[in-house]
Amino acid sequence: MQEPIFLQACRREPTPYTPVWLMRQAGRYMPEYRALREKVPFLTLCKSPELAAQVTVAAVERLGVDAAILFADILLIVEPMGVGLEFSKGDGPVIHHPVRSGADVDRLVESLPADTVPFVFAAVRQARASLPAHIPLIGFSGAPFTVASYLIEGGGSRHYIETKRFMYSDPGAWRALMERLVRVIVAYVNGQIAAGAQAVQLFDSWVGCLSPVDYRTFILPHMKALIQSITPGVPVIHFGTETAGLLELLAEAGGDVIGVDWRIGLDAAWQRIGFNRAVQGNLDPVALFAPRDELRRQVEHVLTAASGRPGHVFNLGHGILPQTPLENVVALVEMVHEISANLVQGSRFKVQS
Ligand code: CP3
Repeated sequence: MQEPIFLQACRREPTPYTPVWLMRQAGRYMPEYRALREKVPFLTLCKSPELAAQVTVAAVERLGVDAAILFADILLIVEPMGVGLEFSKGDGPVIHHPVRSGADVDRLVESLPADTVPFVFAAVRQARASLPAHIPLIGFSGAPFTVASYLIEGGGSRHYIETKRFMYSDPGAWRALMERLVRVIVAYVNGQIAAGAQAVQLFDSWVGCLSPVDYRTFILPHMKALIQSITPGVPVIHFGTETAGLLELLAEAGGDVIGVDWRIGLDAAWQRIGFNRAVQGNLDPVALFAPRDELRRQVEHVLTAASGRPGHVFNLGHGILPQTPLENVVALVEMVHEISANLVQGSRFKVQS
């Protein structure tokens, strides 16, 4: 059987149209999801393999996307570390005992994901079993910096003051924290792959707050070690936002596919990443609030910037916002398929390798 087109694109093979999936494709913009969340708290949902698999598959069926992403959260792996994770309504995640010193790092409980989050692997197995063969399942994890930022700040942040203060004032403890997170994340991601995930995305969502020199000093060695330890042959998508100043460094750290947000043109981004990598992105999630003809222009713009080069996975530059009209998301997926297929057939794309 031919490989699913999402995986072909990850490997930079030519495809008959551009595959598309959307970060947060299963989430609060969907009425079915909101109805389920009336009955089940978020963490309970994540810990119920049956329900998590159902939410994963329902998004694919509703949208017609080319890949599924496991329904889970990047903070599931920090709960067993003993820091007191809570998802409070409206405020996002809260960590009750943030990490602020080397002693706090030493106190973090390090255990095997197979023992602490077996429900994630069960959800992977169940989702894989329910999905059609041509729809690959993407597993994921937070990357060490982004996970550490929650551990240290105790929640979301604007300026990452505590995270950077920690990094600058105790580089030894920072390294210990990164190395600990890398060990857990490698086991977590490889466990998802063993359970049936066919690609993995590393969410370094907030790494764009760092200067290039800090990225090179404090992050790059750990990202390299992490990516090199992922099961060979499984495409790795390396994603961050506000990374226009860091793209070469993200590429150097590794990943078969580099995620790009909308603050840089996809053509300029790909040039800097290098054409020996695939790219993913990069529509502004807020374009989904525009009238249909403007949305179409924006989709054409992204596809044209990719210029028919094999190795483009269409996505938003960041997750779908909860207020997004569902019908616009459905329309987006149709547009990407239709416009990219026409561009290929009409050879308006000069196919290059
Ligand atoms: O993409 C998907 O559809 C898969 C599911 C998924 C969720 N979180 C479900 C979720 C994925 C891939 C994530 C990743 C995640 N989680 C990230 C990285 C992605 C990104 O946005 O950059 C981060 C930073 C988190 C941490 C997190 N989880 C935050 C900050 C929040 C609250 C913010 C918000 O949108 O409310 C969550 C909660 C969360 N994770 C929800 C969902 C569907 C909303 C919870 C709810 O149902 O109330």
